Amino acid sequence: MTEAFARIAVIGVVPVIAIDSVDHALPLADALLEAGLPTAEITFRTHAAADVLARLRDERPELLIGAGTLLSPAQLRQAVEAGAAYGLAPGYDPAVVDAARQSGLPFIPGVMTPSDITLAVAQGCRLMKFFPATAAGGPSMLKNIAAPFAHLDLSFIPTGGVKMETIADWLALPEIAAVGGTWIATTQQMHDGDWSGIRSRASAAIARVKE
Ligand code: 3PG
Repeated sequence: MTEAFARIAVIGVVPVIAIDSVDHALPLADALLEAGLPTAEITFRTHAAADVLARLRDERPELLIGAGTLLSPAQLRQAVEAGAAYGLAPGYDPAVVDAARQSGLPFIPGVMTPSDITLAVAQGCRLMKFFPATAAGGPSMLKNIAAPFAHLDLSFIPTGGVKMETIADWLALPEIAAVGGTWIATTQQMHDGDWSGIRSRASAAIARVKE
């Protein structure tokens, strides 16, 4: 596992962030850092994502910043230029995995089926995002589809419908490196300036991971 993802495995939980204003970058970072959750996946679902990453790289270097929803090599390069320390995608595209290797960005593709895993493994991936984790069948689904690959020592980060109440169920699986989700810091909370609410959810998530 690369250093960035090894740090994420220690933290145990990744807030998935859909942030649409660069003005929210620093208050968001401060809420997460104060809660003891020093990472954020900034998703490229908003036009602000690259600017947010650059702002965080320049002004909150203590936050380990990642880029999510990287759907093309061009987007991956944009994330690298903006300072992303790691990247993820909801699905598996060999061109994006190649682009990540070329640019040196630690990157994990998304998988949901044994076929996805087979393709990702063939390209050398050992850590994958399992998405959409809950709708796909939850921990028992992942346990079952990961079983034939047990000898390959794969690890997964489930996202999609993961909630505070289900963190423990996921972390009970040995294959889980960390969990992630948008519930820790929602776009609405950022619009409302609810930084204390984000701080509370981040603290609660960290406490749940440590239990
Ligand atoms: C992701 O990109 O990982 C998901 O959108 C997170 O899913 P969630 O909104 O259900 O947490």
